[in-house]
Amino acid sequence: MDYQPLFARRAAKPVPALFRAGAASPQGVIPLTYGFPDPGSFPIEPLIEAATRMLRERGRDALQYGPIAGPEPFLDLLVEKLGREGIPANRDNLLVTSGGSQGIDLVTHLLVDPGDSIVVEAPTFIGALQTFRNAEAEIHEAPLDAQGLDTSALAEVLDRLAAQGRRPKFIYTIPTFQNPAGVTLAAERRRALVELTHRHGTLILEDDAYSELRFEGEALPSLYALDPEGAVIQVRTFSKILAAGLRLGYLVTPKALLPRLLQLKVDVGTSPFATHLATAFSRDARGRLDPLLAHIKALRAVYRERRDAMLSALEEYAPPEVAWTYPHGGFFTWLTLPEGLDAGALLPRATDAGVTYIPGASYFVTASGARNIRLAFSFLPPAELVEGVKRLCFVIQKAR
Ligand SMILES: Cc1ncc(COP(=O)(O)O)c(C=O)c1O
Repeated sequence: MDYQPLFARRAAKPVPALFRAGAASPQGVIPLTYGFPDPGSFPIEPLIEAATRMLRERGRDALQYGPIAGPEPFLDLLVEKLGREGIPANRDNLLVTSGGSQGIDLVTHLLVDPGDSIVVEAPTFIGALQTFRNAEAEIHEAPLDAQGLDTSALAEVLDRLAAQGRRPKFIYTIPTFQNPAGVTLAAERRRALVELTHRHGTLILEDDAYSELRFEGEALPSLYALDPEGAVIQVRTFSKILAAGLRLGYLVTPKALLPRLLQLKVDVGTSPFATHLATAFSRDARGRLDPLLAHIKALRAVYRERRDAMLSALEEYAPPEVAWTYPHGGFFTWLTLPEGLDAGALLPRATDAGVTYIPGASYFVTASGARNIRLAFSFLPPAELVEGVKRLCFVIQKAR
């Protein structure tokens, strides 16, 4: 059967191998590729206990179809959690989704027709790029630096588009502990970004997958908190703070957008089992959020130790011309190789030496990032991170 003529335009092109998440790495090779959570930190015993209790008390809801926006007990948990973070939201600002990924997809469905413009920071999250490509968006890049998205460069991109009579549908940004670069948008730039967005009559899709995993420094206001009921839609996830396998995320959105988002979400409810389980895990017998908050606190310690192990190994083994970002939280650091080296060309040699990574070029739309490498410190224990970095630095040293 020749399926090709039947494909929709968006599916007709094959997906490059790099975009397939979860591919296994060869035996003996240390994968610094995966932005996966630490599997040893999954709270399996507490989840078994919570699941048993939840099925006894709420089994008929958990195993039935559910409300599309999410069940009320879970929405109330989110309202309380967001309130603690300084984000004003109530039930009609919330839409529970199958991971943050579905949130990005829904917002794209809501706003983007083929050929519409979107602005992304460069580099950016591969999954979002894939979603925007599927929607046949025209993707424009604005660079980021150690302080996050460069809002002056973004202003130029927006002015250039405006001069062509183009208004982007939204600006996609990961302001805190960015994937892949590990950097965080500075406070003044957060305000500048919201101001720019209003000036150009566009929206912000704020992807806040990592802010809860802060290792040091003060929390910064989220873009949504700077402009509630305004130009910001925030996408969140439980993947990094509880279990990616629950596939649980949510959108925090201006109320006015919720009915349209509900209209587009044709799934008879994000897993009621997962939402009721997350609720049962998160609250103690007195109804407090302490179990969830304690778990997140423990995760911060796990990932801080891993970040420190990776950065110390880089300090120790990296040749002098190699640079990397200093993440205050999250899962990643972003390496820049010496002039003349190419991260893609180096990958086969690194794999032979027993380490893999994702070359920086994958995180751009334009031909950039040849000298960059994303390193994830989330997935492996500290000793393996150190060994992986050592192998990588040896390969870089030899290639210089
Ligand atoms: C920046 C960012 N956004 C969104 C996601 C989506 O995660 P999920 O669909 O598991 O919530 C990820 C996961 O890696 C991410 O890094």
